[in-house]
Order: sequence, then structure tokens, then C-alpha cells
Amino acid sequence: MAPVVTVRDLQVAYGDHTILRGVNLDVHPGEMVALLGSSGSGKSTLMKSLTGFAPVTGGVAQIAGHDLTALRAGELRRLRANVGQIFQQFNLIPRMSVLNNVLTGALHRAGPLNLVGGFTSEHRKLALHYLDRVGLSHKAKSQARPLSGGQQQRVAIARALMQSPSVILADEPVSSLDPTLADSVLVLLREIANEHAIPVLVSLHVLPLALTHSDRIIGLRGGEMLISAPTAELDADKLSVLYHEEHRDDRDLA
Ligand SMILES: Nc1ncnc2c1ncn2[C@@H]1O[C@H](COP(=O)(O)OP(=O)(O)O)[C@@H](O)[C@H]1O
Ligand SMILES: [Mg+2]
Repeated sequence: MAPVVTVRDLQVAYGDHTILRGVNLDVHPGEMVALLGSSGSGKSTLMKSLTGFAPVTGGVAQIAGHDLTALRAGELRRLRANVGQIFQQFNLIPRMSVLNNVLTGALHRAGPLNLVGGFTSEHRKLALHYLDRVGLSHKAKSQARPLSGGQQQRVAIARALMQSPSVILADEPVSSLDPTLADSVLVLLREIANEHAIPVLVSLHVLPLALTHSDRIIGLRGGEMLISAPTAELDADKLSVLYHEEHRDDRDLA
């Protein structure tokens, strides 16, 4: 099957400050690919470049049939509708019900018209289905605010599924969770990658989590790709190169 994400010799720069160079990446349907690297290595920048939030200044970056280097007018909105995003801080609307938070995922595709028309019963059924899938249908009517971090991240996953995305980008989705919850959220994401053939690109800074929960690991250090291999061929020793401090500069302090 063709990859959903293709990155070749990617360069991302802000002015003359080059953040990423020489990154190569393929993400295939059904795969969970971990982006591993310490803080400041460029994980978020790579994710952002794939959704048009960071400037691609060289190489190839394609996602869900869109070419980031040759976007047509209006295409960025369609691209973002195709990409489910999960963030470290969940980004739910705290005073809104869990069900409505999930429903907002449908707005990506339907656009602003839907805000006027309201959601259809089909939308609600689907939202409940996804809430059930993440184990939270009993919380549908509750506000999002009092939910635990792990529960909030599950709601965010249901919201992403509501987009019927071609791919999910999860940027440090478990960094705010304790280890048990972190494991369960990553297990869920990997199951979803398999069941729905929706590939997941997940950034992580903790090595054992990447080794346990991914099919492939892309390792970044200082904006460069040092590792790209099936997880089965890697171990903590081989990955330790990502955490060697080459030099200290503003990158390491970010
Ligand atoms: N908007 C920006 N302008 C300039 N530099 C940035 C910007 N965003 C990130 N950087 C720099 O890019 C580097 C990589 O950051 P980031 O992608 O956030 O790393 P990570 O997500 O791996 O912690 C850091 O040195 C950071 O300071
Ligand atoms: Mg980051």
C-alpha cells in the first residue's frame, strides 16, 4: 500500500535558522511510527511542517495526497481536515460536554455551515460510537473539565476519529500522563492504527515507550535524522545516540 506520509530530505527553516535537515520518513496505512528525540530535537516542527504550520524550505513533504510544497488555494483547510491531531494538553473545550467535544471533530470536514445547521443524528451516533470505542460512552454528558488526563486524551482521540482522518499526528500525547495511563493511551492509538488502517505518527521523548508501542522509529537529534528502522531491529543501546549531547546551544534549552 502507498504511504500516507512521505518525507524526503526535508528541510524546515525559520529565516536563516534551519531547524530540520535531511529527514526521511514514510508512514504506511496501519502503522504506528514513533518520532523519538529529546526536547528541542525537532519533533513538533516535523509534525507542524506536515500540517502547514511550519515552513518547508526544501525536499519533499506529502501527507494524505497533499503536497506541502505545492498547495493550491483552499487546499490547506482540506489537508487539515484529513489529519487528526492529538496534543499533549488534550485541547478539549472544558465546559462543553464530552459528546459535543467529540462532535467538534466533524466540523473539520463539514466546515462552518454545520455550526449553523447543528449536528445530525448520524453525527451523534458516530460520536457515541467512537466514545464507546475509547471506553467513555458513560461520560458522554459530563463536562470535559473534571475528567482525568487519561480520559481527556481518550476524548481527544474520539474527536480525531470523528474527522475520519487519513492519518493521525499525535505530538507528545502522553507527556502529561502517568506511566500506566501513558501505556493505555498508546495501546489504544496503536489498536486504532491497526483496526482502521489509519496510520499514527506519534512523537515521544521517552525511549522505552517508543520501543514498546511502535512499528518503526525515526530518531531525531538536533534537527537531523539519526535513526530510521523497524522497532524490532532497535534497542535502548542503539537509540542512546539520540541522547548524547553533541553540543549545547539554544536548541538544547528549548
Ligand atoms: N517558530 C519557531 N521559530 C524559530 N525557532 C523555532 C520555532 N519553533 C521551534 N523552534 C526551534 O526549533 C527547535 C526544535 O523545536 P521543536 O520542534 O519544538 O522540538 P521538540 O518538539 O523535539 O521538543 C528548537 O531549537 C526550537 O527552539
Ligand atoms: Mg515538541
